[in-house]
Amino acid sequence: MKVPFLDLARQHAAFMPDIEARIVEVAGSGAFILGPNVTALEQEVAAFLGVEHAVACGSGTDALHLALAGLGLGPGDEVITTPFTFAATVEAIEYVGATPVLVDIDPGSYNIDPARVEEAITGATRALLPVHLFGLPADMHALMDIAAGKGLKVVEDCAQCLGARLGERVAGSFGDAAALSFYPTKTLGCFGDGGMVGTNDANVDRRMRRLRNHGIDDGGEHVMLGYNSRLDEVQAAVVRLKLARLDRMNQRRREIAAHYNTVLGAAGAVVPAAYDGAHHVYGYYTILLPDRDVLRSKLAEQGIATALYYGKPLHRHAYFAGSCRAHDMPVAERIAGQCLSLPVFPEMSDAEVEYVAATVARLI
Ligand SMILES: Cc1ncc(COP(=O)(O)O)c(C=O)c1O
Repeated sequence: MKVPFLDLARQHAAFMPDIEARIVEVAGSGAFILGPNVTALEQEVAAFLGVEHAVACGSGTDALHLALAGLGLGPGDEVITTPFTFAATVEAIEYVGATPVLVDIDPGSYNIDPARVEEAITGATRALLPVHLFGLPADMHALMDIAAGKGLKVVEDCAQCLGARLGERVAGSFGDAAALSFYPTKTLGCFGDGGMVGTNDANVDRRMRRLRNHGIDDGGEHVMLGYNSRLDEVQAAVVRLKLARLDRMNQRRREIAAHYNTVLGAAGAVVPAAYDGAHHVYGYYTILLPDRDVLRSKLAEQGIATALYYGKPLHRHAYFAGSCRAHDMPVAERIAGQCLSLPVFPEMSDAEVEYVAATVARLI
């Protein structure tokens, strides 16, 4: 059997007629950018997150950039984040001219460790940028307490976690802004690039709307230096269709993860952590193994595709080694050397799930 890491064609096949109808509708409408689907999607995502406003934009990277710029972060400001994430998290901090400060992660959740955050705060610290990595919410209660105590802004990187919850609250509803990615491989993906920022702050919302569209205000005046980061109608239409299915798709991810947890946990792998009150959506299913690289090539021989998220923490990459202020990161270093992500996508068949679990268990 061959099991791909992800198969988006299968996901779309299930409702292709709906997708085609929406795309044809957009083509006939003549409204292609920031039109009615974008407006509707902004309202639907805001309601899903439980926030007042949502601003669509060109990508998850742009969403982080607009959030930080919308909150007024800039040169001289320090933003504390994790080294165990995709580059965009840190790039966005640098786009606004602020300094990324990287601190170590929690060994259980692989998310930013609130205790390390506290140690890294200086007089220049202005914001925290936690990532809800792999679909598991970061410890937002502790992080929001720290932020409240020190007067810091909080931007949540929700690129991998849409639909995850902490207690009754959706990840993305805790901070001053939440950045979402609609990159095709995400839990809620479109047919290209796309993103969105959620916020409860009307001023931040207004500022981000101007920033994404050349700095234009409602009267057509260029009131600031802006960007071109507009979502198009085809992407918005596709995301709207998928948003209606998101909880069901996440539920299937959780079922697959539950099977892996049972079989792989019994076989001795370190499986993803579960916390009371945390509703993990398994954007990625990542295990830890000391001889990860050996297992990875054996799995490839058995037809099972895997991925390394992330084989190297950001401060070990040539560029970020020079651009970030990095604290000691023994946990991130160890986990980067042992992590292996297995296939987890809602359309996997039971046979595929069982084959992956049984094969991994046998090989370790
Ligand atoms: C944690 C994280 N943040 C930000 C991004 C950036 O999203 P996009 O690819 O839509 O720009 C990604 C996507 O890969 C991500 O995984």
